[in-house]
Amino acid sequence: PKDEEETWDEELQELVQTLPKERNWINADHLYFYQGFWCPSGALKAVISFQKHFQAHDTDIIVISFPKCGTTWLKALTFSVVNRNQFAREENPLFRSGPHQLIRFFEYDLYLENPSPDLENSSLYPPRLFSTHVPYPSLPPSMKDSNSKIVYICRNPMDMFISLWFFTDKLRVENSEPLSLDEAFELFCHGTFGCGPFFDHVLGYWKASQENPNKILFLQYENLKEDIISQLKKLAMFLGFPFSEEEEKHGVVEEIAETCSFANLKELAVNKNGVHTFGFPHNTLFRKAEVGDWSNYFTPAMVERLEKLIQENFDKSGLTF
Ligand code: A3P
Repeated sequence: PKDEEETWDEELQELVQTLPKERNWINADHLYFYQGFWCPSGALKAVISFQKHFQAHDTDIIVISFPKCGTTWLKALTFSVVNRNQFAREENPLFRSGPHQLIRFFEYDLYLENPSPDLENSSLYPPRLFSTHVPYPSLPPSMKDSNSKIVYICRNPMDMFISLWFFTDKLRVENSEPLSLDEAFELFCHGTFGCGPFFDHVLGYWKASQENPNKILFLQYENLKEDIISQLKKLAMFLGFPFSEEEEKHGVVEEIAETCSFANLKELAVNKNGVHTFGFPHNTLFRKAEVGDWSNYFTPAMVERLEKLIQENFDKSGLTF
């Protein structure tokens, strides 16, 4: 008799036959158009396992983002806010572990090798912290129905695109042709890249956060860059771990901002040397961390085209960059 794993693999093979398929920007993997988004082939099985099996707890906190929008930063901040009373400042686990090791991805990590990992009896004490890049409509039902909380981060699409272009180039297999900026831009505008289309992803969480502001906190990278202290307070309040007056007086908020800063994280040995479960070296996650770096690369025609897309997609939403 077939075991569960074999049956499941066959079902997956059948499903894959029916899905639109595209070449990914890099390497040998593909993208499958699954439930309205382009899922990297290497993560599809894990996405479906996560959807089938994950049972949310009311106390769970899920960090969600579109890739290259500040995921690493938000993980560091969320981890530090929630666990700040578990360790002395200089013993923050962030000094020894990458943000992606402390808040693990469902589809690029936890469900990658094991279709049904035991997340109940692991060493994860409440609140459990997880993360995903899966779009809102594809989240498992229990995550929507429970009182678990979601923090979402997005970013100006122009900076996000430039960040992605550099990131994928760093992951390029040796001797393969680089993807030109023009080619990448064309694919970006069509939405055919990992987790794309960008606009659908952002709008899905934006609308959900407006309908349910106690469940989903919608953050923007640019606001964090502009005023990390007030954004950190907002994050802590939302998560149910507000800073006390005493903590504010003692500079706890500033300390967390400093520990999670680009300058600090980028220089840590763990972030210079480690490799993520999904195969990318940690150091590829730290590049420039600037707002407006796109202006060094975009031609006027690119600006015009993307501004038009931004307007078409976000105009009625009330979301601005
Ligand atoms: P740039 O490529 O523009 O530098 P993600 O974590 O979602 O993959 O996003 C990566 C982007 O966030 C990169 O942007 C990276 O440099 C920036 N980044 C990483 N850590 C950061 C931090 N602690 N503070 C601010 N930005 C950070």
